[in-house]
Amino acid sequence: MNIDIDLVPKAQRKEKPTDVLQVAFGTVFSDHMFSMRYNGSEWTDARIHPYGPLSLSPAALCLHYGQGIFEGMKAYRRGERILLFRPEMNFKRLNVSATRMVMPTIDPDFGLHSLMELIKTDSEWVPEVPGSSLYIRPTMIATEPKLGVRPSSEYLYYIILSPVGPYFKEGFSPVKIYVSDKYVRAVKGGTGAAKAIGNYAASLLAGTNAVKVGYSQVLWLDALERKWIEEVGTMNLFVRFDDEVVTPPLAGSILPGVTRDSVLTLVKDYGLKPNERMISIDEVIEGLSSGKVKEIFGCGTAAIIAPVGSLWYKDKPYAVSNGQTGELTQRLFEDLIAIQSGELEDTHGWVVPVE
Ligand code: COI
Repeated sequence: MNIDIDLVPKAQRKEKPTDVLQVAFGTVFSDHMFSMRYNGSEWTDARIHPYGPLSLSPAALCLHYGQGIFEGMKAYRRGERILLFRPEMNFKRLNVSATRMVMPTIDPDFGLHSLMELIKTDSEWVPEVPGSSLYIRPTMIATEPKLGVRPSSEYLYYIILSPVGPYFKEGFSPVKIYVSDKYVRAVKGGTGAAKAIGNYAASLLAGTNAVKVGYSQVLWLDALERKWIEEVGTMNLFVRFDDEVVTPPLAGSILPGVTRDSVLTLVKDYGLKPNERMISIDEVIEGLSSGKVKEIFGCGTAAIIAPVGSLWYKDKPYAVSNGQTGELTQRLFEDLIAIQSGELEDTHGWVVPVE
């Protein structure tokens, strides 16, 4: 499919942030966006055009029943080169999410091609300062105007770009995590393994309550027993028990993170023991008391690696790594950024240049 191009005249392009590291995550957008429409049988009308409001019927199905999915990716600049990190995994996951939400899939090659064309159009928006990147948000929503509860026959897919610094206002400092034993995020058989917009809406109440008591994110437990660790607000979670580095298995309610997968590989490279197994919250709390839990960290595209400095569980705070960043957490953060931005050799073939 051809991509039509409608560019913002140079003189009308937006000012770029002078200090991207100070900009709140995801609040500034580049000059252009990509979009295409699904008309019931095929994707059509692929365009790169000025970033701007969507025209949507107030009856569009996404607004009523939440039929919408998205992805999160980043582009890094190294001089003239712009690099993506494992983008094929995002397009694969987008299609898994689409299938779960009864939405049309996208040809992954065209998905990547259209993303690259958009990034090339807005290449000046890819920041270079260490700690910054261009966050990429591919999104698909149901647009058919209809109030009956059923899958839409029409969809809009679009990509927007946002130059970003750290996801958390703490930067890379340890974050405080509230373990929710009241609300749950997902249950096996539900939509937790898809990047469905409603999953994030469902997380807001617990997240808001956690922020009110000084915690930045919620750690979700399983929905049935409220015993097994699942994931953190916007990240997958890892716990280091001595040399075993554990994350919960992808058993249907957890998002299959690209960074999660990369961490499992790097941990093995470091000679530690990566393990995907169930972790009970009791094992973590006991391990914090006994000293067996050395570090806890979250990981995700937006956050990259986020050290956890304390947990709040059943009305009590627990310090993790004395509130400091653990040694493995620090190493993973530095290595991942260095690989993503092309400073460290990419021995796994993860980095894809935009060309
Ligand atoms: C990402 O890490 O890219 C995510 O999608 C999390 C997000 C909701 C900020």
